[in-house]
Amino acid sequence: MKVVSTIKEVRDAVREWRKEGLTVGFVPTMGYLHEGHKSLIDKAVEENDRVVVSIFVNPTQFGPNEDLESYPRDLERDSSLCSDSGVNVIFTPQREEMYPEGFCTSINMTGLTENLCGKSRPVHFGGVCTVVTKLFNIVAPDKAYFGQKDAQQLAIIKRMVSDLNLNIEVVGCPIIREEDGLAKSSRNTYLSKEERRAAVILSKSLKLGLEAINSGERNSRNIIELIKGNIESEKLAKIDYVQIVDLLSMKDVETIEKPVLVAIAVYIGKTRLIDNFIFEI
Ligand code: PAF
Repeated sequence: MKVVSTIKEVRDAVREWRKEGLTVGFVPTMGYLHEGHKSLIDKAVEENDRVVVSIFVNPTQFGPNEDLESYPRDLERDSSLCSDSGVNVIFTPQREEMYPEGFCTSINMTGLTENLCGKSRPVHFGGVCTVVTKLFNIVAPDKAYFGQKDAQQLAIIKRMVSDLNLNIEVVGCPIIREEDGLAKSSRNTYLSKEERRAAVILSKSLKLGLEAINSGERNSRNIIELIKGNIESEKLAKIDYVQIVDLLSMKDVETIEKPVLVAIAVYIGKTRLIDNFIFEI
């Protein structure tokens, strides 16, 4: 496995593979890899001849008061996870490699980006779309792998790939959870012992919502109230949003008649965690 930091080195490696007629899978990440990332990497390794993982804490997707500086980083641990998993190249650029002086272009998507996480993180998805487009252009993979935990991000990337005719198959992979149900996330590392205990309220509350839908409830407001009520029973939790949206448009739905995403964002102490499930009708 090679660890490279320049765009040229990635392109050179991919060019050699292409000469041999090999397929390329790509897993974009911000590092501090956990079993969620590992599941994407494993799928990429299974489905492609060669795999590139990018590790880049992308500054343009963080708002001014967010955790860009404190975002956890551990390249050594990430490298051994990648190497053990069969990754061929890690691309870990410096900020200047991705955003050289004078950089002034961005991808602006409307519609899917304003609801849910877009409400409290207004610059986030513009930054994600811009960096992912750049990474797609650098790696030029056949397939790229994203986790369902960031469900809105996944919907946005799929839409962007379709709208911009990017020749890449976007593969969504299921949420990986801790034993008690907490969705794996690099940000879980911010939680104190007490907060970690409290954080299980997210998945527990979603489970209640799913049970209600499975029992025939179709009124979004009733399901949302049920989920909110349960989250509020945890004193360390503060709700950012609990919403039920159309799976493709990310717009709120009043009645569940088509596939929906039930998505929540909750602060546990200062840490903002997200979780969701999809209900296919
Ligand atoms: O999901 C993430 O880790 C990031 O948003 C991504 C896709 C790597 C872009 O920086």
